[in-house]
Order: sequence, then structure tokens, then C-alpha cells
Amino acid sequence: MSYSDFLATALEAARKAGPVIKAAFLNRTLQGTLDLKSNTSDLVTATDKAVEALVFAHIREKYPDHKFIGEETYDGATTELTNDLTWCVDPVDGTTNFVHGFPYVCISIALLKNAQAVVGVVLNPILGECFYAAEGSGAFMEAMDGTVHSLPLYGVQPWKGLSASLVATEWGYERDARLDSKLKTLDSVLKAPTRGVRSLGSAALEACYVARGTFDLYWEAGVHMWDVAAAAIIIRESGGEIANFVVVRDESGKEVLDLKQRKFLFVRAVEGVLRR
Ligand code: IPD
Repeated sequence: MSYSDFLATALEAARKAGPVIKAAFLNRTLQGTLDLKSNTSDLVTATDKAVEALVFAHIREKYPDHKFIGEETYDGATTELTNDLTWCVDPVDGTTNFVHGFPYVCISIALLKNAQAVVGVVLNPILGECFYAAEGSGAFMEAMDGTVHSLPLYGVQPWKGLSASLVATEWGYERDARLDSKLKTLDSVLKAPTRGVRSLGSAALEACYVARGTFDLYWEAGVHMWDVAAAAIIIRESGGEIANFVVVRDESGKEVLDLKQRKFLFVRAVEGVLRR
């Protein structure tokens, strides 16, 4: 099956949303009401909601029979993940960055088939970078100057070990006991001989930076499917790996990605790493 029409639709929707996000990023009065969801680090603005509605409307016009899951309308019941063709959208990933003017902000759009991402678009309208992929067709990045690059940017490299790796992680928005296990992991990573550890505040962009070859690995516990679905196919098509912390297999024994697991590890395309 060719996914090129679906990819074209996802790119159109992202490019329609991009200027709306950028205008509100540059002019805070356009962001609309700011609400806290679960706590002070879990934010939503009127822009998040408006962009989700805009993207859904654009895609629904072409594919009225498809299903939709979006961060701002997800209720886990009427929008439960099934095997049907489903668009999974985070209208503004990095909402806290968006509110505070930190330019790691993107829209993330994925098409899922059998609950696996087959098309993904991650567009950062502030930095003018657009990452995209469709199953079987490779992963690409359109840069601000309009040039298109195949990912990873510098090709697949031999694994040089953790001491030559730039690592990314995130804290998410949970501030309860779940943060303790993240702190333990970070304690080991910070003490390990890496090149450094980064947190950008956008799971989708961090995962795409793994596909680009900037980060060697990125892990996070606590993300939702809309944060990582598009990046999952982008990293896979770049030759990299995405894995759940707990391995899930289908009836044939093949490892599949459980997008609901909320714990993911992304590793870039390096020879000889994460083959299980
Ligand atoms: C959040 C960001 C953040 C990650 C959180 C996500 P949002 O998404 O991706 O980097 O740590 O887990 O919820 O709320 O900005 O769309």
C-alpha cells in the first residue's frame, strides 16, 4: 500500500497549522486562555485546541471515515485506539516552550494502521524544520531554506559507545513518585561517561533529533501516543529504533510497538546497537 497521499495530506495540514502556531508564539496575546491540566507543568492554551480542530477538519474533509485521536480531545473512551486507520495528533508539542517563548515547539501528526504509525509529520514552524516519513519510503527533513535531506543527516555511523553519545531525556509533567525512578535513571546516566544530557521540552522533536543523528538516544517515561507516534515512523524510516521499556509481541511473535505504554526509548541509526 502506498502512503504517499496520506503523507501529502498530513504535510498540508501541518503547513496550514504552522503559521497559526508561529503567530501565537511571536505574539502571546494570540495564544488565548492558558489553563493548567494536571499541574503547573501540564499546560494547554486556546491555540492547542484551535490547532487540533483545524487539523482534524482538514484531514476529515479528505478522509471522513477515518478515526481521530488528539491530545486535547482524547477521553480514552470514545476515542480509544483501535486497529482502524486513525490520525493521532499533538497540535502543539512543547506547550510549555510555546508559552515561554522557547523555540522547540512543533505540531505532530501521525496516521496509524493496526495501531502502528505508518505516516508521520513533525513540523517546527519557529525554526522552520519539518521531519516526515511514510512506511517504506525513508525519512526526510525539510530545512528552513527549503532543502530536503534524507535522514540521518550524516548517514549511519558505527556505534562508538556511550562516551561518544549525546543523550536526551525529559521530565514530563508528573511530579509524584514516578519522578523518583526517572531520577534514579538520570543519576546513572549523568555519572556515565557521555558527551552530555539534554532536555528540549518536546518529545516529538527530541525523537526526530535522534532520527536526524543529533542525539544518539532519547528515552522518556510518561509520554502519550500523540507525543511519539509521528516520530516513531520517522525514526524507523531513518534506520533507527524505537522500543517500549517492556517488550510487546503480536500473535506471530514479532515485536510491535505499544503506543499506549507511555515508556519509550529511541536510538539512532548506528551499526550494532539495540538489536534484541
Ligand atoms: C509534553 C512534551 C514534553 C514531555 C511530556 C509531554 P505537550 O507534551 O512533549 O517534552 O516531557 O511528557 O507531555 O504537553 O507539550 O504536548
